[in-house]
Amino acid sequence: MPKVPLIIDTDTAQDDCIAILAGLLDPSAELRAITMVAGNVGFEQQVANAHLTLNVAGRLGSVPIHRGCTQPILRHWESAEDVHGDGSGGLSMASDALSESDEHAVNALLRLTAEAPGELSIVAIGPLTNLATAVILDRSFAQRVKTLVIMGGSNNARGNITASAEFNFYVDPEAAQIVLQAGFEDLRIVPWAPLTLLDATFPRADYDRLGALGTPLAGFYHRMCAATIDYDESVGIDGSTHPDSLSVAVLLHPELVTEQSGYRVDVETSSELTRGMSVMAWEKFEQPTNAQVIEAVDGAAFYDYLRGILATETVPNLPVAGLSD
Ligand code: RIB
Ligand code: CA
Repeated sequence: MPKVPLIIDTDTAQDDCIAILAGLLDPSAELRAITMVAGNVGFEQQVANAHLTLNVAGRLGSVPIHRGCTQPILRHWESAEDVHGDGSGGLSMASDALSESDEHAVNALLRLTAEAPGELSIVAIGPLTNLATAVILDRSFAQRVKTLVIMGGSNNARGNITASAEFNFYVDPEAAQIVLQAGFEDLRIVPWAPLTLLDATFPRADYDRLGALGTPLAGFYHRMCAATIDYDESVGIDGSTHPDSLSVAVLLHPELVTEQSGYRVDVETSSELTRGMSVMAWEKFEQPTNAQVIEAVDGAAFYDYLRGILATETVPNLPVAGLSD
């Protein structure tokens, strides 16, 4: 079976790490690069989490990690540390022998898509600063990407960082608007609400079951998602939220999607009140569509999918302090 070559653009904490595991371990995936963007937690912690994720999968050094934009285009960076804690999950490993690419993430996105035009897909699960910068540097970038899956926005529904905005679009709304208008031919959006809350949120009993699978990856999952499930439950969300890993899953297994529609999606950049809000115009408004918005997935099948990833036996390359606690 031909593999799906992809890049994951990420602000690595919590579910971003699980998304990378899916990109590494799903037999149908060929993960070509990890590109890092400012988002969830401090940049150095995000980079450390990316290494940690590769390590626990036994794949340290097998996929290049490219550092990208450390600030949004116009705004001051705002983190989600209130949601994810410091982002480490209490885990650490020796960092003296780790290697990273010298190439900036944006240059890597441009080069890799130029080397294989129309072949590479991108799953963007953080703020869209790297992708927007690539669009600005080279207007043909969008045409070279096979499929772009974006985790961002809400489908005319509630936000998570403000009442109206989802975190990834809120942090860099200008970048989100640039990317959405750039002409990506196959652009799919995994929104926060209602999709993630309905179909990609695992109640604590399911989260604990995944954490008890007995593999290093299961222990890693349970630790990396612990702060977030505590936070989510404190704000009335019933479980561990997985929009980023769902984004990788729907690229690799589109059959998970049970409902999607074409929308015209725009992001608010001028209002402070609704900064980063995604306005998704459906067919009634007769605007040219720029994205397929995923509206429902088979949640049980997605849970089984992640269970399969986390049940994979791996041997971490380096010891991980805190993993067996
Ligand atoms: O709003 C959800 C997004 O922000 C996800 O990408 C998650 O990683 C986060 O903090
Ligand atoms: Ca993310």
